[in-house]
Amino acid sequence: MRIAIYPGTFDPITNGHLDIIERAIQLFDKVIVTVAVNSSKTPMFTGEERVELIQSILKQKRFKNVSVERFNGLLVSFAKKKNAVAIIRGLRAISDFEYEFQMALMNRKQSNAIATVFLMPHEKYTYLNSSIVREIARLDGNFKDFVHPIVFRALKKKLSL
Ligand code: COA
Repeated sequence: MRIAIYPGTFDPITNGHLDIIERAIQLFDKVIVTVAVNSSKTPMFTGEERVELIQSILKQKRFKNVSVERFNGLLVSFAKKKNAVAIIRGLRAISDFEYEFQMALMNRKQSNAIATVFLMPHEKYTYLNSSIVREIARLDGNFKDFVHPIVFRALKKKLSL
């Protein structure tokens, strides 16, 4: 059983993240989407809300080998606890590289047994991140193409648009 974790803040999950999940499940027997609740960011959605949104989408998409969990603390410790062999990260552009490279090497220093696997989302998602989606939503712009309808509705509700 080859397990991978896919960590992130997912505030909220976007179509770019979903694209990475779809690629990851082709490669691993099980993927655990790992929602960081202790991130340095100040999220719009609570940890619970972010998990629920992802769960509802995965259920609707009928993915069988994906689960969602919250996590707090050191990523590598969580990966070990889950018997994961890999950490999945999405690489969208060269600008992601330096930070991801540092994180991958630091995680490897913590545990040599866990590899970081980089996957590239479809090029139509290269300019996407969660904060830009939140900003467009807050300013009442068009963000329908960037998120699943479940997230679209949740953002509208959160912002009472
Ligand atoms: N599609 C769309 N957006 C994407 C994306 C994709 N495929 N891949 C990344 N992004 C976006 C994310 O939405 C996020 O956007 P935001 O900044 O607007 O929230 C951004 O790109 C990536 O942010 P980043 O800070 O790199 O990652 P993250 O917030 O998703 O997750 C953790 C970072 C949680 C993995 C990391 O902080 C961590 O491991 N923390 C645990 C503590 C630890 O172990 N630290 C030591 C690490 S060496």
